[in-house]
Amino acid sequence: MSLLRRSRSLLLASAVAAVVVSSGVALIGTAQAATTLGASAAQTGRYYGAAIAAGRLGDATYTGILNREFNSVTAENEMKWDATEPSQGRFTYTNGDRILNQGIAMGAKVRGHALLWHQQEPGWAQSMSGTALRNAMMNHVTQVATHYRGRIHSWDVVNEAFADGGSGGRRDSNLQRTGNDWIEAAFRAARAADPAAKLCYNDYNTDGINAKSTGIYNMVRDFKARGVPIDCVGFQSHLGTTISGDYQANLQRFADLGVDVQITELDVAQGGNQANIYATVTRACMAVSRCTGITVWGIRDSDSWRTGENPLLFDNSGNKKAAYTSVLNALNAGGPSSPGPSSPSPSVSTSPQPGGACSASVSLNSWNGGFVATVRVTAGSSGVNGWTVGVNLPAGSAVTSTWSAGNSGTTGTVNFRNVSYNGRLAAGGATEFGFQGTGAGPTVSPSCAAA
Ligand code: G3I
Repeated sequence: MSLLRRSRSLLLASAVAAVVVSSGVALIGTAQAATTLGASAAQTGRYYGAAIAAGRLGDATYTGILNREFNSVTAENEMKWDATEPSQGRFTYTNGDRILNQGIAMGAKVRGHALLWHQQEPGWAQSMSGTALRNAMMNHVTQVATHYRGRIHSWDVVNEAFADGGSGGRRDSNLQRTGNDWIEAAFRAARAADPAAKLCYNDYNTDGINAKSTGIYNMVRDFKARGVPIDCVGFQSHLGTTISGDYQANLQRFADLGVDVQITELDVAQGGNQANIYATVTRACMAVSRCTGITVWGIRDSDSWRTGENPLLFDNSGNKKAAYTSVLNALNAGGPSSPGPSSPSPSVSTSPQPGGACSASVSLNSWNGGFVATVRVTAGSSGVNGWTVGVNLPAGSAVTSTWSAGNSGTTGTVNFRNVSYNGRLAAGGATEFGFQGTGAGPTVSPSCAAA
């Protein structure tokens, strides 16, 4: 290298260094340079969350970091099927509620994980198949989403349903063998049970444009085209020592389909690149306006499922690692704001019936041997203070569970009556209730009468 070129290179290097140093100083010196992950993410309308375990909430170091740094929590195991329905029809929410209450106490968002997953199925479900399993799956989705109704920011409705490798197709499982429509049936049941929660599909090995992520992309595109209620896609991002060059482009192509994207289970193997890979993921999310938040899968390395890989942001003693600093800096560097919370559009829309006391319409999601019905009740021009909806079921069909209404009878003409909080409807106002049944769903319009 000539002396001139060498001194030019040195000049360039020191100029770059000056920019790096001065931009670092400028950021730290500005009012915008937040000092915790959650506060920094919130500046652009995003969240920064952690998966947490109910069994660790008594650990003061753990909860100290949790309360200080994060503004979203995910239940690492406590809201899964084996935890919430250990025997069929018996629901236990003790530990799931501990996670929920921790999130509420922190003023954090709570992510629900996960309604249906082929792993951590309770033993009774593992040995089921066919219509019995499909009915059990939908009942599980309905019951758990109803229990947490209105309190979950995003649900992982279906987790890890796509196969690894080059097929781009579905993974074989007893869930999949109930019929290819099980995923959309689960999303419709979740929407009926909790219309306010964002509904996500969540998977791993989707950290770039590859056969598996493209298979999921095609499913999401199809769901959006057919009005299946999906709001978000979760990219787990359990990463090794490298990251795909098209990580951000992959997030962006999903966002362009009209769904939010979230990084849902981030952890990165410790190695020379750990801090850089964390920064790359953070910058990618910050650059995609529909990337609404990031969740790391645990707090300290000692809390991680990846024993010995030290993949998290805090060491075993709770000290911040270099990866922590790189994430905070990338969050503080900013980016386009996330659109922030928005309500999913309702799956059913009907017009109020002027003059009549009330009207009702039904939207059905059916499969061979069962169905979920969502009924929308709309007040006429006078408003109502209590309503009854009559639904005619075909012979052989029966209601097995109902939410947001009470029913008398389960077969033939079934009458559904409002519960305490949804009987009063202003003129033109509307509410929804739902029920699940065996057999075929109703085929004629329901009747509606004011109480
Ligand atoms: O709580 C019991 C304990 O009572 C028992 O003595 C012990 C014996 O094995 O097991 C304990 O339960 C374990 C549980 O974690 C809580 O520590 C389960 O065996 C173990 O299987 C379970 O692992 C979880 C794993 O999902 C299950 O597949 C991990 O904590 C959890 O981090 C991991 O999370 C998954 C996401 O849900 C989906 N994506 C991948 C991610 C990593 O595998």
